[in-house]
Amino acid sequence: MYPIKRNRRLRTNEAIRSLVRETIISPNDFLVPLFVVEGKGIKDEIASMPNYYRFSLDLLEAEIKALWTLGLKSVLLFVKVPDNLKDNKGTEALNPNGLMQRAIKTVKNVCPGMLVMTDVALDPYSSFGHDGIIENGQVVNDDTVEILAEMSLSHAEAGANFVAPSDMMDGRILAIREALEDEGFTDTGIMSYSAKYASAFYGPFRDALDSAPAAVKDVPKDKKTYQMDYANRFEAIRETEMDIDEGADIVMVKPGLCYLDIVREIKNEVDVPVAVYQVSGEYSMLKAAAQKGWLDHDAVMMEQITAIKRAGADVIASYFAKDVVKLIS
Ligand code: PBG
Repeated sequence: MYPIKRNRRLRTNEAIRSLVRETIISPNDFLVPLFVVEGKGIKDEIASMPNYYRFSLDLLEAEIKALWTLGLKSVLLFVKVPDNLKDNKGTEALNPNGLMQRAIKTVKNVCPGMLVMTDVALDPYSSFGHDGIIENGQVVNDDTVEILAEMSLSHAEAGANFVAPSDMMDGRILAIREALEDEGFTDTGIMSYSAKYASAFYGPFRDALDSAPAAVKDVPKDKKTYQMDYANRFEAIRETEMDIDEGADIVMVKPGLCYLDIVREIKNEVDVPVAVYQVSGEYSMLKAAAQKGWLDHDAVMMEQITAIKRAGADVIASYFAKDVVKLIS
């Protein structure tokens, strides 16, 4: 009791604070999202994501080497698909020589040790900007799942270490796991976007890939029939437990900061690694506030990343990964 216990003793100076600090950020915490485009010599800044770029494959090589040098050893690949290759079924997603398949090979070629995860969902390939096939104004589940399983196989064949289904269809983890096992890809992992909320924070990402749901008659204008209602908590646990039962190696909560209550709850509930995706809108908010001089970029960035890890994240997918690692090294 006071004054025998004075909590401020453990905060007296930086040496004691760092000695008793509970949450330490290192390069090993991060998964780096990367946007890939067709073409040559392209390093194109995304308007709503300052200092974040789309790379053509030739310039992706240098970026991969830079990440590796910084100690960042895992990437999550997304592709921007030309409009003329988009259709309702995402046919291009299965092209063995498609952009994603070439991107995987490019990364593995320049840096064999780099862990490659790939986004699995139809939206960048869909003429309607949806994660599944549209029929009669609905996103259909089971036919979409069949394509997701084939897409996963195609990524595994190209050399992906993990596939990361971000679509939120029911039953896709089991279908993907079975497809991988049947073809002998027993070591290809699945990081499931298991508790993915229908969030307005994905806006800048959809700018980056030009993948927003199309404003077309008879096409749902949002993703609320498959991504989760942000008012729900128990549903996140149910989704996550089902994905683990179906074979997910890593589960995910997405977005990050607004959902740290869910992260903690899931971390307490499950015994597989939990990933958290600090999404595009979270990145853009801080960049914008910092550009205006309203927030201290680096200080707020570290506070946010540390909060995500403190909440229970074993893996953090973040557009700040490089900024953080440069700052702490
Ligand atoms: C695609 C996908 C999205 C994100 C990751 N994978 C967008 C969406 O679901 O609409 C969002 C990532 C971000 O905002 O940074 N299914």
